[in-house]
Amino acid sequence: MTKKQTVKIKFYSGEDIPLELHKVRVVQKLNLVPIERRLEALFESGFNTFRLNTKDVFLDMLTDSGTNAMSDMQVSAMMHADDAYAGSQSFFRLQKAVEDVLQKKYFLPVHQGRAAENVLAKAYIQKKGDLIPMNYHFTTALAHITQYGGRIVELLYDEAYNITSEHPFKGNMNIEKLDAVIRETGKENIPFIRMEASTNLIGGQPFSIQNLREVRKIADKYGLRIVLDASLLGENAYLIIQRESEFLHSSMAEVIGTITGLADIVYFSARKLSSSRGGGICTGNENIYHELEGLIPLFEGFLTYGGISVREIEAMAVGLYETLDETMICQSPQFISYLVRSLMSKGVPMVTPPGVLGAHVDAMQMCSHIPQLQYPAGALAAAFFLVSGVRGMERGSISNQRDENGNETYADMELLRLAVPRRVFTLSQIKYVEDRLVWLNENRHLIGGLKFIYEPPVLRFFMGGLEPVSDWTNKLVAKFREDFGDSL
Ligand code: F0G
Repeated sequence: MTKKQTVKIKFYSGEDIPLELHKVRVVQKLNLVPIERRLEALFESGFNTFRLNTKDVFLDMLTDSGTNAMSDMQVSAMMHADDAYAGSQSFFRLQKAVEDVLQKKYFLPVHQGRAAENVLAKAYIQKKGDLIPMNYHFTTALAHITQYGGRIVELLYDEAYNITSEHPFKGNMNIEKLDAVIRETGKENIPFIRMEASTNLIGGQPFSIQNLREVRKIADKYGLRIVLDASLLGENAYLIIQRESEFLHSSMAEVIGTITGLADIVYFSARKLSSSRGGGICTGNENIYHELEGLIPLFEGFLTYGGISVREIEAMAVGLYETLDETMICQSPQFISYLVRSLMSKGVPMVTPPGVLGAHVDAMQMCSHIPQLQYPAGALAAAFFLVSGVRGMERGSISNQRDENGNETYADMELLRLAVPRRVFTLSQIKYVEDRLVWLNENRHLIGGLKFIYEPPVLRFFMGGLEPVSDWTNKLVAKFREDFGDSL
């Protein structure tokens, strides 16, 4: 067994402070524009934080996708990229990194995570109504499955839907339900079982290896394949080391290898997993490789670049190895935990236990006066940007898609996600987020609802436009000025 690195650093004061284990060597200047400008920006962007211009954004907590800080080693690796349409040395370095870290021999590059989802859905959803059981959906995974005529069923345990919980593995698949669903549906109508590491939409919540082993047993019983979405695998592995007794003394490499060893196909967004751009699909099974390889030149690019620039391929290879470094991977979850615990202590309702990727505010509770049909999470995202310049992301009903009859489907949870990309923010910036959110929570009755004025048919949350149902934004601005004077 490899010796595990210890990353715990205690303060003499006894305070629980996450300490940065990196230094900052390249910086980017930020702007904090006044609240009056932020209000204009909201109207210009249809109250949709995806549509904001970053010149109006102070702390960009929209996502960790493509926004994690790269290491000096990643940036320097980009300088020795080998530009070639076919047979690039950069690709072979990446292929080796995939084999070393994810422990799968066969690798197909794709331009980002959703491209892998497209390829897998296209290859395996053979007929209308095919069912993909999963712990929980991700927006783009669902869109690709339904695009090819498939359906999904989400099989979490009830505990996962409790916003406040101390359950360490809310992302676990409900084994009894999985077995029942396969029996009822018939294995011939199930192309694969999908497991998502650090289940994104329920607050970045991990599954345990014990659970994945049980999923594997069911898969073997029925001869089904497991597809693992490994976009947030590093963080899931880190939380396993923190929370699953069997793995308390294991290294990241051991935990990651154990997880990927239980899946037939592993795909990922490299924008998350390796702090770069790009994505990939890997497998240890040569037949699977051949089932998929023809789709890569069709949709992505030649098999040795898959739509990714060679420079990013180099950064991806180094980033994959760095995923094994617990001192790197722990930074974001520790900052998230710090933020969640301090917000909770000041009365802000948060998803617990703290997960990965970001801190998640429970908009259903914070904005309980806003009906779900007026999108409480979207309203909270807009209100929080207004009072802070911090851009979060709505993860609630706006992010849901309508059903086949065009009816609104309400999300199980209405969350405002405040992403904490790796090694990007300082602790004083995190404290600013906390300060403004506590203020907004104390003035939450001033937040009002939203309604759509432009609703695209697919993935509406990206480009949709909304407006406030009343003039609540002006009241919020007036209260901000009253309490903060001429502060930005
Ligand atoms: N799977 C998961 C679990 C994801 O979180 C994402 C992206 C994807 C797949 C798709 O990958 O963006 O490279 O095409 N999540 C981003 C987010 C967009 O903000 O959570 P992609």
